[in-house]
Amino acid sequence: MSVMLLKKGGYMVRSNSRRGFIKQAALISLTAWPVAARAASALIEKIAPRPTVDLAIKLRAFARTVSLYPDKPTDVWSYEANVVNGRGGSVRTSGNGFLGPVFEVHQGERLAVEYINDIPEESIVHWHGLDVPADQDGHPHHTVPTGGVFKYDFQVTNRAGLYFFHPHPHGKLGNQVTKGLVGVFIVRDSEEAALGLPNDQDEHLICVQDRRVSADRQFEYLTGGMHDRMMGMHGNELFINGELNRTKIVRRGSQRLRILNGSNARLYNLAWSDGRDLEIIGTDGGLLEKPHNVKSMLLAPAERLDVLVDLSELKEGESLSLQSIPLAAGAGSPFDIMTLTASAEEGSRFVVPPVLSKIELIQESEAVNLNNLKTFKLVPTRDHGWTIDGVPYDMHGASAKETVKFGDTEIWEFDNTVAGMPHPIHIHGTPFQVLSRQSGNFTGAMDLGWKDTVLLLPGDKVRLLKRFNTHKGLFVYHCHNLEHEDVSMMRNFVVQ
Ligand code: C2O
Ligand code: CU
Ligand code: CU
Repeated sequence: MSVMLLKKGGYMVRSNSRRGFIKQAALISLTAWPVAARAASALIEKIAPRPTVDLAIKLRAFARTVSLYPDKPTDVWSYEANVVNGRGGSVRTSGNGFLGPVFEVHQGERLAVEYINDIPEESIVHWHGLDVPADQDGHPHHTVPTGGVFKYDFQVTNRAGLYFFHPHPHGKLGNQVTKGLVGVFIVRDSEEAALGLPNDQDEHLICVQDRRVSADRQFEYLTGGMHDRMMGMHGNELFINGELNRTKIVRRGSQRLRILNGSNARLYNLAWSDGRDLEIIGTDGGLLEKPHNVKSMLLAPAERLDVLVDLSELKEGESLSLQSIPLAAGAGSPFDIMTLTASAEEGSRFVVPPVLSKIELIQESEAVNLNNLKTFKLVPTRDHGWTIDGVPYDMHGASAKETVKFGDTEIWEFDNTVAGMPHPIHIHGTPFQVLSRQSGNFTGAMDLGWKDTVLLLPGDKVRLLKRFNTHKGLFVYHCHNLEHEDVSMMRNFVVQ
């Protein structure tokens, strides 16, 4: 066992060893408010502003068809990106180009992105997880009509990690993502580079999405009516990076999987098919302090996971599958998300260092509302469906509770004890840290590291620590079940 935190009678043991994990599972049921070990993460350093743009990109959303199935083409909406100025390799298309593109930038770089909205609906692009000024964040009130253009100019200050981008027009997000509008944003930095993690052909991007595909090969949306709106869209087909082929031929060595749950509403309970540990090295906002080994872990929509796996023992042609396993015995059967098949080629074996990154925990005592908790209730309403605090989204306003002083650190509590379904809560702006989880029921590394999305399981409450110290202005926070977000499980907050 490695770290022990003692607090107010409740305690939590964090460990890298399997024995420690089992012990931890036994302990968590005993305490009322166990303190989830907050992840060890590097300080978000002050990044010097850049006087000029490093990378200029034209990003266009447009309607097209792709050949996903041999018999019939599928209508989709795609982003296409071109580098106007800067490193050509910083933008690449993924697979069939239906999903993506992938931006790869270095921390500190300044980007100018000209977004051209050529889909037949209003839209705007949001850089999920990136800490950018309010007018660069793709807030719903920045939506541009068909044919409209939005010019972004922002600096990437986030640490190395897997971020992504998607539309953010209020009420239309779920359909636009279903149709294909998701891109990926990889940030690199020197701390990560120094580790020499598996890269190039040994580093894999895995954006998992389910979609409902009709008999004539079209993506269906809300065809299940009220049920879809309340539960969120669940599909009948699984895609990886926009492709139906979910097998990858890989070298027999260490592989790095960068997993993004890009689904509208589906949770995955990740595990390896041979029962080996998931070796987790990072979450939403990049590397953890140390590797974290677990048997399985829930990944909610918008959450990311960085996983290492050593395939050097596989023989040529042998496979290992990343699966989603049932949450409880008898609750469904496991299914494969992605299969890695060993090639003849031997890759290199990466020895995982005991320390991956620097530690900086936001202290509870730093919060200005330590004795005056802000609680946000996740509740369904008759008139608006899912909401936060029973009030629908108001594009321009924020309540007193949603008003924060620039520079302050606050504790926000999300309360999901009212109605029984999971809600992945996402807050724009600075990344946050999970302070505690009432039930203690967390799996894997779901509460570790710098987070921007946290999963609230039914019956649970989660407390977060967030610093509002980088940008003033109007931002949103919402459920990342896209059907919930669209109906009204979203609110503004303002930093002033
Ligand atoms: Cu990934 Cu407000 O969103
Ligand atoms: Cu976001
Ligand atoms: Cu929700």
